[in-house]
Amino acid sequence: MKFDSPATTSPIDRGRVIGKPLDRIDGPAKVTGTAPYAYERHDVAPNAAYGWIVGAAIAKGSITAIDSGAAEAAPGVLAVITHRNAGPLAKGNLNTAHLLGGPAIEHYDQAVALVVADTLEHARDAAKLVRIDYAPAKGRFDLAAERATAAKAPDGFGGAADTAVGDFAGAFARAAVKIDQHYTTPDQSHAMMEPHATTAAWNNGKLTLWTSNQMVAWTLKDVARTLGMKPEDIRLVSPYVGGGFGAKLWLRADAVLAALGARAVGRPVKVAIARPQIPNNTTHRPATIQRIRIGADKDGVIDAIGHETWSGDLPGRGPEMASQQTRLLYRGDHRMTAHRLATLDLPEGNAMRAPGEAVGLLALEVAMDELAEACNLDPVELRIRNDVQYDPEAGPQRPYSSRKLVECLRQGADRFGWSRRHARPGQARDGRWLVGMGVACAFRGAMTTESAARVGVDGSGRVIVETDMTDIGTGSYTILGQTAAEMMGVDLAAVTVRLGDSKFPVSAGSGGQWGAASSTAGVYAACVALRRMLAEKAGFPADQALFEDGLVRFGNQSQPLGKLATREGVWAEEKAEFGDLTKRYAQATFGAHFCEVGVDVDTAEIRIRRMGGVFSAGRILNPKSARSQVIGAMTMGVGAALMEELTVDTRFGFFVNHDMAEYLVPVHADIPAQDILFLDELDDKASPLQAKGVGELGICGAGAAVANAVYNATGIRLRDYPLTIDKLLERAKGSALA
Ligand code: MOS
Repeated sequence: MKFDSPATTSPIDRGRVIGKPLDRIDGPAKVTGTAPYAYERHDVAPNAAYGWIVGAAIAKGSITAIDSGAAEAAPGVLAVITHRNAGPLAKGNLNTAHLLGGPAIEHYDQAVALVVADTLEHARDAAKLVRIDYAPAKGRFDLAAERATAAKAPDGFGGAADTAVGDFAGAFARAAVKIDQHYTTPDQSHAMMEPHATTAAWNNGKLTLWTSNQMVAWTLKDVARTLGMKPEDIRLVSPYVGGGFGAKLWLRADAVLAALGARAVGRPVKVAIARPQIPNNTTHRPATIQRIRIGADKDGVIDAIGHETWSGDLPGRGPEMASQQTRLLYRGDHRMTAHRLATLDLPEGNAMRAPGEAVGLLALEVAMDELAEACNLDPVELRIRNDVQYDPEAGPQRPYSSRKLVECLRQGADRFGWSRRHARPGQARDGRWLVGMGVACAFRGAMTTESAARVGVDGSGRVIVETDMTDIGTGSYTILGQTAAEMMGVDLAAVTVRLGDSKFPVSAGSGGQWGAASSTAGVYAACVALRRMLAEKAGFPADQALFEDGLVRFGNQSQPLGKLATREGVWAEEKAEFGDLTKRYAQATFGAHFCEVGVDVDTAEIRIRRMGGVFSAGRILNPKSARSQVIGAMTMGVGAALMEELTVDTRFGFFVNHDMAEYLVPVHADIPAQDILFLDELDDKASPLQAKGVGELGICGAGAAVANAVYNATGIRLRDYPLTIDKLLERAKGSALA
């Protein structure tokens, strides 16, 4: 099915199952501990041995000698795998550094050996006995220091590196009100709950990987490439994923090394990347330096807007696309965006939790707060004045498919009690707390991508959905079940959803918040085909048959689905392909974040007091799981604003705080109740279900609302994230802080 013209009415519009706040269908399996995760596949891979990864102790250079004798002789050890005995290994298309390093070392904690033993303890102990000598080379580890060496980034990492419309420099120079500021965001770690983990087993030259991965088809292809195998000789199984956040979009060392280990010892092997290894062994969100220039008239109407971003990465990788939302969010006839990329020898920077917008809005939405103040305007009003209903780089011929940003701002302000905010900072006090409110827009692109599914009905009338789509804690099982239930006219309880297995049709996978809209479209397409097959079997005209209550009806005749399916069942496989609607229409998701903070007048401790968000993202398929998505993401926004930072040792090139004790993320006690509203909306150009994803929308802008609230509370404008106590206290003199 090709989706290349706007959606019209469909059985989805009945809204009996779709759009209902139903519980997760995978919930009971998860809370009873019966959902099998990658490291605990005792059911299908009993007798697995344990692998422990040895990481490189230098960031750049080479291995001069490896002595694994003592490790091999240690109790329980079955094998030690290094580049010397691993056999030929290619690099996956989606990996920047090799997943088993040596002799060249490309980054700190790059895997250089796997010790396989009968128990985890034996493997971990023996790993300490592997002796490796290195010849270190000089590396580049400091983004600020390398900024001058940065070059224009390559295109194609989410669009062109640079864009320009009109005469930015001239218009900015002429503007009555100007903002020109730099903002910085640090390296960040995904910090998902479940580490990267894989159980691998070989059977007659065929490999099965039970792994924790967001993108089954991408990763299978890279396993094949890395190991020099045929894709059809590999099966990848990823039914439950304990969080991905972008860390598991790719093949990582756990899967490659588990496969090599299992081949070496002739039995299943499991490998997890231990928590302290994750930040340096795997990928992270790169740090950015951002410069924003905005030129407006006295009424705050933007004429010139420019956003430049500097980031760094290993050779061969791309930029953090932090300027990209600035291409689309606000009006302005004269515009420019640019991405500059420095080479850094830190671990690989890559996608994390709304790459681009998540950090770009931390800068842009603070700059807008600064512009509002410079124009003596309310920051909500400023944003409304600069709304644009079309892609401002392309012009009015490329309208938004739908854009209810102004409605989000107005309703959000109303619900939050925004009118109680003092325009002048440092005015509100509650006991020892300085109180401030902040606002920021949420904006995230609404990508879609091809997605296939197989849907069947069995002899009992049960509907079965199979697709390699993953559920990374997002609710995929449930919304795909709801889609099939609505289309086939059965209750959600009558649907079985099977996900995350490469033997199922290839889906969009989970990334870039494209999963919900794309994968439900694939299930929808398969259901359309299945309905036709069943109607024909019943002898009813396919376009007039009704599917409801487990029956196919036509006029006053009806047939139960199960009877039509017979004992063999009836199956349909289809895919949804997306045409050029995303070219003809700008497509995105929108929202408005509101935050109230308290800042302790003496200690400068920052506490979130209230958060509210109003979002618009097309049809909301399941308000309960969608709400969970955005409250989790808003929590990540608080993390970005106040806590999350990988600290770089710029001498040796590694992240110092590489565990959950020192890489801080918000916990329950940090986050108050969050008030969430989704606007009623159908976006007929977004998908056949008129839906868009919300997985990443909630993080986008949330941190800027926090930062703006901190400014409103204290009068101190911090532009270097995270906003910590020490940075406030440095600037306390003359502020509302005592
Ligand atoms: Mo997302 S960072 O594309 O999983």
